Amino acid sequence: MPDAHILGIESSCDETGAAVVRSGEQILSNVVASQIATHQPYGGVVPELASREHLRAIVPVVRQALAEAGQTYQSLDAIAVTQGPGLAGALLVGISYAKALAFALEKPLIAVNHLEGHIHAVLLGHRQMEQRQSEGGKLHFPVLALVVSGGHTHLYLAQVEENLWTYRNIGHTRDDAAGEAFDKVAKLLGLGYPGGPIVDRLAGHGDPLAVKFQIVQIKHRDRREHKQGEDKPVQAEEAGPQFDFSYSGIKTAVLRYVETEHLKPAIEARRRALAGIDKPALEDILRLCDRQTLDLVASFQRTMVNDLVAKTLAAAREYDVQTLFVSGGVAANRELRATFEREAGMQGLPVFFPSRALSTDNAAMIAAAAFPKFLRREFVAMDFSAEAGMSLR
Ligand code: KG4
Ligand code: ZN
Repeated sequence: MPDAHILGIESSCDETGAAVVRSGEQILSNVVASQIATHQPYGGVVPELASREHLRAIVPVVRQALAEAGQTYQSLDAIAVTQGPGLAGALLVGISYAKALAFALEKPLIAVNHLEGHIHAVLLGHRQMEQRQSEGGKLHFPVLALVVSGGHTHLYLAQVEENLWTYRNIGHTRDDAAGEAFDKVAKLLGLGYPGGPIVDRLAGHGDPLAVKFQIVQIKHRDRREHKQGEDKPVQAEEAGPQFDFSYSGIKTAVLRYVETEHLKPAIEARRRALAGIDKPALEDILRLCDRQTLDLVASFQRTMVNDLVAKTLAAAREYDVQTLFVSGGVAANRELRATFEREAGMQGLPVFFPSRALSTDNAAMIAAAAFPKFLRREFVAMDFSAEAGMSLR
């Protein structure tokens, strides 16, 4: 296999990332400039601010990635950049910079789908693990990949043939993504932003069985969709059951619980107290949470985790998959990882995650996903553009 150094650039949401990965396997550098502090006062990502911060960060972040990797602009073999999905203005910063670099250096340019990046983050870890364990254990396909992040809760069946990866979507969220539910519930409870990591750390301090939540179970969609203006149903492109998710209901249920239990004054007090602490530690947040709130947080997380695991494993059985990947920001969640390990293990299904650091947005995953495209010489022309609503296939 040829040795190739690919510079990955990621700017789809609120992290500016640059990384150099050798031959899709070995991370030489992986620099992430987080914008959390910028968006924190708003309790969510503000698109205009995100673009501005990417503009500020992109040049130093790329320079740092090259320096840490011991590479120069000239020694790179290709430049890979996230094309979508994501915030259009944010994506454009990375894309414009990648184009300028590729043009000036006369290097090939590779466009990568952010979701494919998340899936290939698992592979990075897996390849390293293979090398370490030297078991020579190969991945068995088809792979079922759950991509669970702030913007997505998607199930894909993945296949690979001669370095060509293809994906088929067999489930997605009908409303909120799982990470969005973590963030909204944390915000609602005055716990800060982003909510996922905070809920993860607090959940261990509460009783996960204290509050009963129910998540809507969506019946398999009738795949014979009607074309507009036609009575006769048309067969959907790909037949087969769908495994969809829905997380806006649990957010409303938490809100209702807050109202009926009169938790609002305590939440407001906590919000004000935390706003006055620079980078609050877990102890600060714990001190501001009573038992009922900790039980609520633990119960919310348990319900989310059980639903994600149950639906994914049902899809794995239905499609008779050989391997499971779980990736995206929410894959950093410790209870989710432990539950997947336990439940998939009981089904004899091998499950792989990226390292926790590679679960959230980064550019190493973009460089990794670009490597099979590099081998296939799948390069893009200079007129390619951002695709905010890009799907993966
Ligand atoms: O993949 P990512 O970094 O960005 C997107 O592509 O969306 O995912 C960010 C999401 C946020 O919603 C964040 O709250 C969630 O992942 N997240 C977590 C954890 N770490 C990040 N959710 C639950 N537990 C975590 N430990
Ligand atoms: Zn992401």
